[in-house]
Amino acid sequence: MEGINLNQIGVSFKGSGSYVPNQILTNHDISEKVDTSDEWIKSRTGISQRRISGLEEDVSQMGYKAALKAIKMTNWDIETIDLIILATSTPNDLFGSAPSIQEKLGANNAVAFDLTAACSGFLFAAITASQFLKTGSYKRAIVIGSDQLSSYVDWNDRRSCILFGDGAGAIAIEATNEFDNLIGFDMRTDGQRGCFLNLSSQNNQDVIVNNINCSTGGFSSITMNGQEVYKFAVREVPLIIDNLLKKNKYSSENVDWLLLHQANKRILDSVGDRLNISKGKILSNLSNYGNTSAATIPLILDEAVRNNKIKQNDVIATSGFGAGLSWGAALIRWG
Ligand code: UT7
Repeated sequence: MEGINLNQIGVSFKGSGSYVPNQILTNHDISEKVDTSDEWIKSRTGISQRRISGLEEDVSQMGYKAALKAIKMTNWDIETIDLIILATSTPNDLFGSAPSIQEKLGANNAVAFDLTAACSGFLFAAITASQFLKTGSYKRAIVIGSDQLSSYVDWNDRRSCILFGDGAGAIAIEATNEFDNLIGFDMRTDGQRGCFLNLSSQNNQDVIVNNINCSTGGFSSITMNGQEVYKFAVREVPLIIDNLLKKNKYSSENVDWLLLHQANKRILDSVGDRLNISKGKILSNLSNYGNTSAATIPLILDEAVRNNKIKQNDVIATSGFGAGLSWGAALIRWG
């Protein structure tokens, strides 16, 4: 399905899929390792448990399973997929994990690459894919968010280890010349505040030969200033969504679902309050999965589609936010 077709003006959201590992790590389990409690974690974050990848699992395997389910929902012939973007910060191959998903799917005609923007990654990837479709360059895309933060969490740091889990989600997007279900979007980065949330390289040194030094590979654990990230989220997310709604002449009443990156229940509630969106419209699955980084948005989207909460033509205001610091929002119509 190659070739420029200038008649393609918009995108349509055709399918969703998700996958979570079987291993469950409860708050009680964590309280055996660090000084915390189920009560503290639940009341401060809304999280009860999270999934942890098994030793045989990785980002591309989880992403593959999610992508396959999304494709099954569409009935697309695999060969007609043009583009696969994998949003991840924890690739199992630093040269890119998307190609191994392409290989597992047998999507031989698709170009496949990774995109990293932490918890905003899936949203940035879905917007990026949509641009290829809207220009007419490509017709069909799979966008995946898959992350395995459990490998990089400092399991002795009670301020951060309580938050994160593993999982994957995916959506199938198609170009159309009839309408545009990506109603609008906005994306932001503030590198000055990047120091609040990092998964940095270790910067160990080695000598190659004589006086030639190099840094060796490897990454440190996640470091996070929780309070600063919290303040950033409750300030920037309502602003970016509010501006997006206004720019597209929508109001909160026109929004059927508020679908935010699942970071903290208190962040969801605060953003909902500021936007005047009632609690019944705020999607949340934090309790079961915690923060799965790039996977949260497609994971909860897929859950809501499959249990018939999100229906054809529902309007969804969605926002991803996190390390970078980066944040973004999109207003979409499902279907
Ligand atoms: O995708 C983006 C990823 N990151 C985020 O979304 C993080 C956003 N931030 C948050 O969600 C919250 O800041 C946290 C849940 C991480 C922390 O909640 P908080 O209400 O901001 O707690 P705090 O850091 O202000 O700490 C309050 C108290 C401190 O004790 P003192 O100094 O008041 O005696 C902490 O030492 O709670 C203590 N504390 C804990 N106690 C029990 C911190 N972590 C824990 C814990 N269990 N796990």
